[in-house]
Amino acid sequence: MSRIELLSPAKLNIFLEVIGKRSDGYHELETVMLRTDLSDLMVFEQTSGTQIELRLSDETPPELRSGFPLDSSNLILRAAENLQRRSQVQMGARISVTKVIPPESGLAGGSSNAATTLRGLCRLWNLQPPEDELHEIAATLGSDINFLLSGAKAAICRGRGEIVVPVEVAQEFWFVAVRPKTGNSTPTVFRETNIPSVPESSSGIVRRLTGETDEPLEKFCFNRLTDAACIINGEMSRLMNSMQKCSLKPAFMSGSGSTCFLVADDQHDADRLRSLVECSTGLRCWVLQTST
Ligand code: C5P
Repeated sequence: MSRIELLSPAKLNIFLEVIGKRSDGYHELETVMLRTDLSDLMVFEQTSGTQIELRLSDETPPELRSGFPLDSSNLILRAAENLQRRSQVQMGARISVTKVIPPESGLAGGSSNAATTLRGLCRLWNLQPPEDELHEIAATLGSDINFLLSGAKAAICRGRGEIVVPVEVAQEFWFVAVRPKTGNSTPTVFRETNIPSVPESSSGIVRRLTGETDEPLEKFCFNRLTDAACIINGEMSRLMNSMQKCSLKPAFMSGSGSTCFLVADDQHDADRLRSLVECSTGLRCWVLQTST
């Protein structure tokens, strides 16, 4: 195949607990992630040389262009070059991305692009490496890539985030997400987070996802990184307060932020909440659905 188009979906952390600090500088986590329908579009094309060429499509909105490096700091190029080297491929590729997922948002836009790159290039180059090998590449590049590579709709992720245990989701869930103008630096948020002596458990939210209980999902949503992120990013903290005030619902943060979200009952409720939050904050909101 000489041209492949794939969606590269955003994740949402609906539960995140920090279990401890590791000797490698990372933090041991227990997090529950959902794959959502908010997606970038990636196109992989064959070229005549061995170069990996990366570009943003003309459809990418101007406000998302600056957060997308075109050099080797981009996880897409690192994933592609890693796969090319390990598989000893003598082929190149042209990769074009239409960005939709905002950067520094806790939605794993960059990690998702890296996972999609591994899948896209395996198809373009006709490679069939063992899944373990692809997951090994993913784990060396970042902590969220393994979940997105797994294709699971939901999972409990442990270790740095790279140990993925899929969870069966009994129904669709809806969220209204909004990102303040300022993003969060993930290392800073982790550094400023206090590690609890007794960690929260994800068992409640997993029971809700699997349909063992029908209590409201938001009753179980939790993110240990929120307090530190609110201190670091005052704009985000004010945004969470406005969201709560106008919706009369609890607001949560995804990953290390700065995207915040409300849980909606269904699509109709999500549209209602989106209007409320957009009117109250003046910021653009997204309705996110768990990916089908
Ligand atoms: O792995 P990733 O590139 O997503 O992580 C970015 C940064 O976030 C790491 O360099 C580290 O400072 C912090 N982090 C952490 N513990 C994790 C995941 C990330 O401390 N489990």
